[in-house]
Amino acid sequence: MNEMQEPIRSLEARYYTDPMIFEVERKGLLARTWQFAGHASQLENTGDYFAFELAGESLFSIKGRDGEIRTFYNVCQHRAHQLVEGAGTTRVVVCPYHAWTYELTGELRAGPNIKAVTGFDKSKVCLTEVRTEVFLGFIFVNLDNDAKSMDEWFPNARTELESFVPNWTELKPLEWVEIPESCNWKVSVENYSECYHCTLNHPTFATGVIKPETYDVQPQGYCLRHTTESNTLENMSYDINSGFANNDKYSSWFLWPMFSFQVYPGNLLNTYHWRAIDAANVVVWRGWYSIGGEDNETVHRMAAQDRATTVEEDIRLVESVQRGLKSRGYVPGPLVVDPSCGVNSEHSIMHLQRWMLEAVKDEM
Ligand code: FES
Ligand SMILES: [Fe+2]
Repeated sequence: MNEMQEPIRSLEARYYTDPMIFEVERKGLLARTWQFAGHASQLENTGDYFAFELAGESLFSIKGRDGEIRTFYNVCQHRAHQLVEGAGTTRVVVCPYHAWTYELTGELRAGPNIKAVTGFDKSKVCLTEVRTEVFLGFIFVNLDNDAKSMDEWFPNARTELESFVPNWTELKPLEWVEIPESCNWKVSVENYSECYHCTLNHPTFATGVIKPETYDVQPQGYCLRHTTESNTLENMSYDINSGFANNDKYSSWFLWPMFSFQVYPGNLLNTYHWRAIDAANVVVWRGWYSIGGEDNETVHRMAAQDRATTVEEDIRLVESVQRGLKSRGYVPGPLVVDPSCGVNSEHSIMHLQRWMLEAVKDEM
């Protein structure tokens, strides 16, 4: 008897369309994974801060006198007014409601007339801090106080990235490209994580940047590591001679669930940051970096070429998939998981979909 093993099927459509599942992800997954907040160069001096939203919470990151970047919930511990808006620089954090002031480390420093209160213990009042890690100059936060460190979530990613971007301490954002996509964030992330669709849909990427036959994606903890060789030099659309090792490679490190570091041949760092809006909308932020954030012809050209080709091509794919996921006629199909992996295999989607299920299963 020859028992055939059933192929692994793609996730059911409701995981990508149901607003209730999205709520579960927003309250659960987003609140217990490492999420990108901003770049350390936004907080160069003592007292520099910026506010941002995560999992429905307002937060702000601020640089202390000790040079440490800390993140706090953006809420006063008196009667809950919001503390800061946007970005700026301050000596102390002053609440706009009754002018309680906090040190850059979150401790309450003073408040009008608080000395009149018997038993008021200033040392017992402190802003609520959020786990923060600066990972190669990128600020990540995790609302879960017990979360494992990024090095545990994404083993080896930091050292590998350092070997691909040896000048990371000098890099600053040069431009951000904002890409709204009418699809669930997971559709966009899945599309990013396989190259089974590349040869057919990304002619520029597949002929001018990488060598598709060498493409592979492998999990490293909760990181998906993409590796490939770059195309032959004559086919490259720009000069990759950076003087650094690994200049002839393309590699990316997708950090589950919504961020990816990507290094193009020539050691060009760029990033993807997905911001999930609702069940059917996501905004992808493409970040491009240069030394000191200064104008750089190659980086501008790469950003423009990428926006006009790969990004544009992917928007059409993911938006069509989102429409299809709502079709009554869709039955989730088998994933093409090739045991030898490689460019025409969807083993990375299998890993991703396991993480996607695991993220919501306790609450469903
Ligand atoms: S709420 Fe902030 S000082 Fe009163
Ligand atoms: Fe793509």
